[in-house]
Amino acid sequence: MKKNIAIFASGNGTNAEQLVLHFAHHPKARVALILTNRSTAFVLERAKRLEVPACCFSKEQWAEGTEVVEVLRRYGIDFVVLAGFLARVPDCVLHGYPQRMVNIHPSLLPKFGGKGMYGDRVHQAVLDAGEKESGITIHYTNEQYDEGAIICQHRCPVLPDDTFETLATRVHQLEYAHYPEVVDRLVSALE
Ligand code: GAR
Repeated sequence: MKKNIAIFASGNGTNAEQLVLHFAHHPKARVALILTNRSTAFVLERAKRLEVPACCFSKEQWAEGTEVVEVLRRYGIDFVVLAGFLARVPDCVLHGYPQRMVNIHPSLLPKFGGKGMYGDRVHQAVLDAGEKESGITIHYTNEQYDEGAIICQHRCPVLPDDTFETLATRVHQLEYAHYPEVVDRLVSALE
């Protein structure tokens, strides 16, 4: 039986799309469900186009968690991937997926992580700090933002004439190159 992956995403969803495409013809796993906390998130358009079931839960539903757990159970979800998900994961969801939930962060954690640090804000902070390199961190998820055990990091240069947009583009390329591969390795190793 194929393993079922759920993706949690709040925004554009380019990483979610890369993950769906990666697993489209995979022998062992599929992306079975996309969940979001924003009804206007573009990831919902992508889900429709890619023909992946998607659902949106309200702030209250995410805070409480029961209905999220219920839909994960209904779809038989084995592994959860956060891809630009900006709400807090409810504890009851976290506890249901020990070592089976990962996040990607667009910096070299522990630098430029924590609450409020997401997307372009991270890249602007990297530029403001005069960093010479940035990159991505893929890590297990725990109760604290961006603090779970690190699985891997990949680096890229910060160039003198970078804007947050050019840096974001470079970091996104790293994400697309590594996130599906890492998720594949972890999901393929599940019992
Ligand atoms: C990605 O760069 C991801 O690393 C980041 O949000 C972006 C989502 O892009 N996540 C965080 O900042 C989490 N703290 P996408 O919606 O195009 O995949």
